[in-house]
Amino acid sequence: MPELASREHGRWLGPLFDALLTEAGIEAADLDCIAVARGPGLLGSLLCGTAFAKGLALALSRPLLGINHLHAHLLAAGLAQELVFPALGLVISGGHTEIYRIESPSRFMRLGRTLDDAAGETFDKVGKGLGLRYPAGREIDNLARTGNAAAFPLPLPYTHNDNLDFSFSGLKTAALNYSRELKPDQIGDLCAALNEAVAETLLVKVNRALEGNRDLNALYLAGGVAANSLIRKRMEDLMQRRNGRLLVPPVRLCMDNGAMIAYTGYLLAKSGYHHRLDLEAIPRGRKIPDDMLAGAPCR
Ligand code: KG4
Ligand code: ZN
Repeated sequence: MPELASREHGRWLGPLFDALLTEAGIEAADLDCIAVARGPGLLGSLLCGTAFAKGLALALSRPLLGINHLHAHLLAAGLAQELVFPALGLVISGGHTEIYRIESPSRFMRLGRTLDDAAGETFDKVGKGLGLRYPAGREIDNLARTGNAAAFPLPLPYTHNDNLDFSFSGLKTAALNYSRELKPDQIGDLCAALNEAVAETLLVKVNRALEGNRDLNALYLAGGVAANSLIRKRMEDLMQRRNGRLLVPPVRLCMDNGAMIAYTGYLLAKSGYHHRLDLEAIPRGRKIPDDMLAGAPCR
């Protein structure tokens, strides 16, 4: 319900800001720079956030930085460990499934994306068919531990090609078809089969991207679906086989969060980037413009 989400943002941003300052024991004047998620996402909520951030930047005379939500997911690993560049990045969330070549905190090149459903959307929609609560990814992951993936043959969708794009809608339909005639004791098996098919599909594409970018030996895994135990394990094994490194944020920083936005803002501000106050919020599906300005670094 996008309109309700925007209203809640408008209602809660002020009190949340005050509560966070109190919790951190700082005042607004202690802030060096204002970073805000500018998209891709739900436009109404993004407009609330960017308007609030612009007000703060103006009132405090501080630089403003609009952050790409997907880049922030990838860089969140830096809150817990040292970042490595250049690297490959895989963002898997409820709305996005994308592969990037990452040169630095300010240079991301998209190598592949989903043509239809995102990985998380696939888990959520199949979960709905199984009568699970939204978002269903975590529960499917848990149920999968009790199941036998071989019980339901599912395809590895859109892997018989040579590109780095994804298409999960066929897999979703195949899993939903099985879900209609499922006996209660087979839920774990179907969850295991779905977990396996999504993890293997991601693995095929990531491996292909690494083969095509032989100078990269680090992989960033991020987004809500990066909390998935099988996907984490498969990516860990892949990077171990390749003598490379896997960088994954702690599970609580895989989901949408403000810390990753602030941290990305910090990295960019340190390199002297900022935005003007006419910064635009960008909805899902529209390309984020490359409109950062380089200037005097934030103090
Ligand atoms: O990044 P995120 O918090 O929100 C955005 O979509 O931007 O990702 C939420 C997604 C949901 O689709 C949820 O089902 C999925 O992450 N998810 C998982 C797991 N935990 C969360 N999917 C698979 N396995 C999990 N353990
Ligand atoms: Zn997200």
